[in-house]
Amino acid sequence: MNEADSELAAADFAARGYELTDDLKKADAVVVNTCTVRQQAENRALSQLGRLEGWKAARPGRKLFVIGCAAERLGFGTLRHKFPFIDGVIGAKALDGLSEELDKHLPPAGDGTGPTAGGETAPASIFSSPLSAYVTVMRGCSLKCTYCIVPSVRGPAAFLPEEEVLQQVRRRVDSGAREIVLLGQTVNAWREGERRFEDLLDSISSVPGVLRLRFMSPHPLYFTPAWLRAYAENPAIARHLHLPVQSGSDRILKAMRRGYTAAEYLGTLAKIRKADPDTVFSTDFIVGYPGETAADFEKTLDLVRAGRFGFAFCFKYSPRPGAPAKDAPDLSSPCGDITDREMRDRLARLLEEVKITGRDIFTERIGRIEEVLVESARRGKTSSNFNCRLDRECAPGALVRVEVTGAGKTELSGKVLP
Ligand code: 5AD
Ligand code: SF4
Repeated sequence: MNEADSELAAADFAARGYELTDDLKKADAVVVNTCTVRQQAENRALSQLGRLEGWKAARPGRKLFVIGCAAERLGFGTLRHKFPFIDGVIGAKALDGLSEELDKHLPPAGDGTGPTAGGETAPASIFSSPLSAYVTVMRGCSLKCTYCIVPSVRGPAAFLPEEEVLQQVRRRVDSGAREIVLLGQTVNAWREGERRFEDLLDSISSVPGVLRLRFMSPHPLYFTPAWLRAYAENPAIARHLHLPVQSGSDRILKAMRRGYTAAEYLGTLAKIRKADPDTVFSTDFIVGYPGETAADFEKTLDLVRAGRFGFAFCFKYSPRPGAPAKDAPDLSSPCGDITDREMRDRLARLLEEVKITGRDIFTERIGRIEEVLVESARRGKTSSNFNCRLDRECAPGALVRVEVTGAGKTELSGKVLP
């Protein structure tokens, strides 16, 4: 989500005639886009800001902006107090106001009459490949997972109208995108009137030029029979789903207010695998949620084995001000009864278990036929989201059928079929 917002910010600059640079010495302005989902992410953003003091002082006229979720949480006052050299702060809820804020601070680059100055500019893909474009279809979240600060810094769920989404998709396809990645905190909850998420997927995949559709992150509660049918029937929907589970213990899932049990989550995976057995899943786990016992943690390991994930992001619980768990009396101590050492131990064991199943899922691709979106002459990405080396040169942007012949450390290799 932050990467997509950074692309929007870059487009705001481009509309003023500015160009991206990764050379700090050349930059006239820097935007630090911040995350606050875990304390560590926020700390990293703040130390990044600290390091920019010298850059800012080295040349008069340089501008420094702070945007995103930590900017929302801390606010202009706190940030300016810590870092007096900051020019502007635009919190996650106010991202729409970035353009106005830039008008206050920035002279147009060059003489301001260049071809792009003052115009509208479609965001460019900065973080993923140029063939892949993020399109945000919802902002905020209306669920109340107890560990999570997102609803407080991004506000309640708001869905973009279908027509606006389609407009963005067409613009990104016109600038070369072939894969669209739909973004939202509970992306599959998208709705507009009678229209549901599967209708949106169908209309986007019929835009000429769209070859593949991904979305991040769905929530287990919003998969309906109608969505499952659309998934089975629409091959443009990628066969990889990132479906955060957080824990394998029903007690902890309940405390987290996730709205499902481990068995119900696994039931959802089974239904999706029934619609397409080739689907690869990935997930998120939090270890050390307050009150998590050794037995709870064992259930998480069981879920890794039963769920068979291609990979998983595993996080240590981080207490967040503004997240409901902070205020719950029985869950209020920073790490419950769990010592830091136990937390690290559990994380290491979880990562190990995830690695084992992940490797199996990866090598099981050998012998299968995969659809690969070619990214460079000899490389591409499978629908199941694995990098794949090709045995012959293909045109970037093409969709080719590949027989997987090997699985290396990080990528598959395959024979392009006629
Ligand atoms: N502590 C640790 N991990 C968290 N996540 C969200 N909030 C927290 C927290 N307070 C993780 C969840 C979520 C991912 C984006 O970040 O696993 O799915
Ligand atoms: Fe946070 Fe839960 Fe919403 Fe995800 S679904 S953003 S974890 S409150």
